[in-house]
Amino acid sequence: MDSTRFFRSGPWLAAVCFALAGGALSGAGVAGEPAAEVPRDELGAATVAHQLELLGKLIPDAEAVKATSAFDPVVFAAHVPDDNALTPERVALGRKLYFDKRLSADGTVSCATCHDVTRGFTDRLPGSMGIGRQVGKRNAPTVLNTALLQTMFWDGRSPSLDHQARQPILNPIEMGMSSEAEALKAIAGDAEYQEAFQKAYGRKMNYEDLGRAIGAFERTLVFLDSPFRRFLAGDASALSAEAQAGWELFNGKARCAACHPMNPSNPLGSDNRFHNIGVSAKRQNFEGLAQKALTALEKDASEQNLDELAIGTDLSELGRFMVTRNRADIGAFRTPLILNIGITAPYMHDGSLATLWDVIDHYNKGGEANLYLDGGIEPLALSEAEINQLVALLFSLTDVRFAEQNQREFERQQAAAQQNRPVRDEGLALRRTLPYEDRVMGAKKSDQ
Ligand code: HEC
Ligand code: HEC
Repeated sequence: MDSTRFFRSGPWLAAVCFALAGGALSGAGVAGEPAAEVPRDELGAATVAHQLELLGKLIPDAEAVKATSAFDPVVFAAHVPDDNALTPERVALGRKLYFDKRLSADGTVSCATCHDVTRGFTDRLPGSMGIGRQVGKRNAPTVLNTALLQTMFWDGRSPSLDHQARQPILNPIEMGMSSEAEALKAIAGDAEYQEAFQKAYGRKMNYEDLGRAIGAFERTLVFLDSPFRRFLAGDASALSAEAQAGWELFNGKARCAACHPMNPSNPLGSDNRFHNIGVSAKRQNFEGLAQKALTALEKDASEQNLDELAIGTDLSELGRFMVTRNRADIGAFRTPLILNIGITAPYMHDGSLATLWDVIDHYNKGGEANLYLDGGIEPLALSEAEINQLVALLFSLTDVRFAEQNQREFERQQAAAQQNRPVRDEGLALRRTLPYEDRVMGAKKSDQ
């Protein structure tokens, strides 16, 4: 299928694509996946062999380093640590580690369990599942295009990919290794690894280089070639009229660009800053949680404890506050990148929103009220037609190599949204006018 035409096609073509894709609405794993046989392991992730085969098609091994040239080379270079220049040896080593379940305590979990190639490099679960089927508090973001992020994790507690990769292996509910030494021991007997570490970094296997190699591999996962990018580059026909209207709203009335800037030099759609947009505020007693957090951190403020509290306890909801202990950061999370967003549902740090329609509804009502809500969040008064336009724009941010999956997911979310969203009265979403605006507008009228 010519995927650039995706959004200009009528419903009939969508239906054909859907049928061709084998489109049952629920498959063996997660809602929206094709019933077609994807071989799966005991935790529901696609098998390593299957993921590697797909990855090889998406980015042939020999071209992995070259793939990064899709980023602006100057910007990309600025995000590569001095001690980890990208080489084919490092990428190959990192790829092997990324898929290696021996790095988990019971041999069932690898990075690719939760960042599965067949699922947009996520797990498509609200909260991730690690060893012993333990479920964490946070939603797994995609690792695609993370090379350009300034901080890692929803709360930014890790400064780089190389550093980030060392955390999940030691987290008790993710991969559960008791120490760095234990993790290294699990793979030390593999002569292939001994040689690969030596070739990649010129020294014996060690935990920092393990993180670096995984980071190097992740930097090659560049998936930017979306209909939207082609439109930005000047191909007006790459985007449907509906998505183009969505782009105008994104920059204007809906004010998304304030936190999700997207332009040729910032392709990610993240300002790399932290905001409380009131996702799960309704359920939280932020004051009580903040007190508990301060006590816990006073006892142990280590990197590892922070990781455990963020992923395994209710303190997760405090977001950036856990890192800075600054009250202004309560409930604030890093603006996520929104590339390939069509294939990474469910959404938000806690996976609480099932579809992109739910996401826009959230913004349209002005989030959940709370003391720490970002000033940029207030009711938007978007009509149903405008909501559809924004959703069309969001689905146009998916790399064309995932076009089929994106189409299938669009259909599934649309069906789910039609069923699950309350019947809406166009008047309901109307934004209240604030008292000072009455005065200002009144004054303007009397000027005329
Ligand atoms: C049990 C599931 C699980 C496993 C295993 C796992 N992750 Fe994650 N990953 C997550 C979750 C959940 C988050 C978000 C956690 C947070 O923000 O506190 C995350 C976050 C990340 C991020 C940050 C992305 C961003 O936008 O900030 C990267 C990169 C990442 N993981 C890579 C890896 C690598 C590399 C491995 C293997 C060493 C790995 N993950 C293993 C679930 C998992
Ligand atoms: C004040 C800053 C801000 C504004 C304005 C904003 N966002 Fe966000 N956006 C965020 C933050 C922060 C998150 C993550 C919040 C969380 O998980 O608690 C987020 C999450 C998202 C997600 C989910 C991403 C994922 O991987 O789960 C989407 C999609 C999204 N925003 C789209 C939009 C759109 C469309 C608009 C305009 C209608 C918009 N945002 C306006 C800051 C903002």
